[in-house]
Amino acid sequence: MEQNRDQWGSRVGFVLAAIGSAVGLGNIWRFAYMAYENGGGAFLFPYIFALLTAGIPLLLLEMGFGFFTRTSAPSSFRKVGKKFEWVGWWSVLVAFTVTVYYIVIIAWSLLFVFESFSLGWTADPEGFFFGEFLGFSGSAFTLGGIQWKIFFALLAVWIINYVIIAGGVEKGIEKASKIFMPLLALMVLIIVLRGVTLPGAMEGVKAFVTPDFSKILDFNIWVGAYGQIFFTLSLGFGIMIAYSSYLPKKSDVIKNGVIAAFADAAFSIITGIGVFGVLGYMAAEQGVGIADVATSGIGLAFIAFPQAINLLPALSQVFGLLFFLSLTVAGLSSSVSLIESVVSSLIDNFSLSRKKAVTVVSIVGFLMGLPMVTQGGLAILDIFDHFVNIFGLLTVGFVEMLVLSYAFDLDKIKDNMNPTSDLQVGTTWKTMVKFVSPVLIGIGLIQNVISEFATVYGGYPLSEVITFGWLAVALVLLFAIYLGQRENTIV
Ligand code: PHE
Repeated sequence: MEQNRDQWGSRVGFVLAAIGSAVGLGNIWRFAYMAYENGGGAFLFPYIFALLTAGIPLLLLEMGFGFFTRTSAPSSFRKVGKKFEWVGWWSVLVAFTVTVYYIVIIAWSLLFVFESFSLGWTADPEGFFFGEFLGFSGSAFTLGGIQWKIFFALLAVWIINYVIIAGGVEKGIEKASKIFMPLLALMVLIIVLRGVTLPGAMEGVKAFVTPDFSKILDFNIWVGAYGQIFFTLSLGFGIMIAYSSYLPKKSDVIKNGVIAAFADAAFSIITGIGVFGVLGYMAAEQGVGIADVATSGIGLAFIAFPQAINLLPALSQVFGLLFFLSLTVAGLSSSVSLIESVVSSLIDNFSLSRKKAVTVVSIVGFLMGLPMVTQGGLAILDIFDHFVNIFGLLTVGFVEMLVLSYAFDLDKIKDNMNPTSDLQVGTTWKTMVKFVSPVLIGIGLIQNVISEFATVYGGYPLSEVITFGWLAVALVLLFAIYLGQRENTIV
């Protein structure tokens, strides 16, 4: 088996793929608004603190673990003990669940690339998005019909992912990352330069960076920073375990990991400046305050940005094209990593060929995404996203750290990656992984659970939140436990 295992062709390929996974929709639409809302420049303190105490330590833990076991997440955890195999499956299934809706959003972005040519979102982007584009019914249970454009875009995005992943690690993922990442950097640079040179842009940038230190005493902001770091570094999904299992024996895991983490943070901050520059311009044009135009997530990308693009003095189409193409490319390099986590687990644990594994995952993933391209899709997607984020990545990351710290030996991982790296991990790293991060994340989780029970998410009817939130999360966990305890044919 070992000598047949796929490998990265170059160091740069691995680093770019790791950055590709990390840099995604989250960097473009989530970081900037979070910072703006949570103390502007002062948010950098909790953010960098979370990066150093949890982000990088856990990233190195996952990378070091995969580098040590040389296999994907479930079989990696099986090496810790058969009774922990489910943890690996859990991370993989969470990855799969995220893939299902993440790809729907990439499909929207792709369609908006085409809308850019004619500014097809009309003079009323909000009406367009909920109306003509999504045909949104307002309820997760009112599916209505399928939105055919989105259906075909979803199919196209799955096919792109399929082709990249079926190509293999070196000839598929690595090659795609080498095209995607420089292209993305270039496009974002142009967007930022244009963004900050628009009239009024500086007001927006100021709102983004001006520190409000009173806010950082609020504990929730620290919890939020941890959540963002986990999501942005793609932790708790078995991705970095799988990606590092493809590294040649002598690789410098630690330095690669640190580079990827800082590149991701830099990307978030630079993009944030561009996003707020554009928002500042829009506020100035409309004679309103930044607070009236600032938003995050779907609203920022598919409503606020089209509004701003409509107002641009020149070359609106080009700007729109660059923006939505950036979203699409950033999304694709992340979705590839999510799918690879699942595919590599199927290859390693069910001795499927790569082609078969990708085919199965793509077909099932596409079919599961179909409810999200109906008229109720937005509600399903939104509830799913919220729950999977809380009970998926934070919880999985938390369990992962505990299992590897207390049922395994961190020194094994450390001693396996230190000799081939310029940077070294030691007591500080172990302290973070064993004590600091689990305590902080544990507190955050308890808070999340309490607030989840206190109010029903997003004002949706309880029945919808139970079906697409709680039930989905429970099924994922049960399925993971089932997969973890079944007899293995391969060891
Ligand atoms: N890191 C990606 C982002 O910031 C999202 C992602 C999360 C990708 C989890 C893979 C796994 O958008």
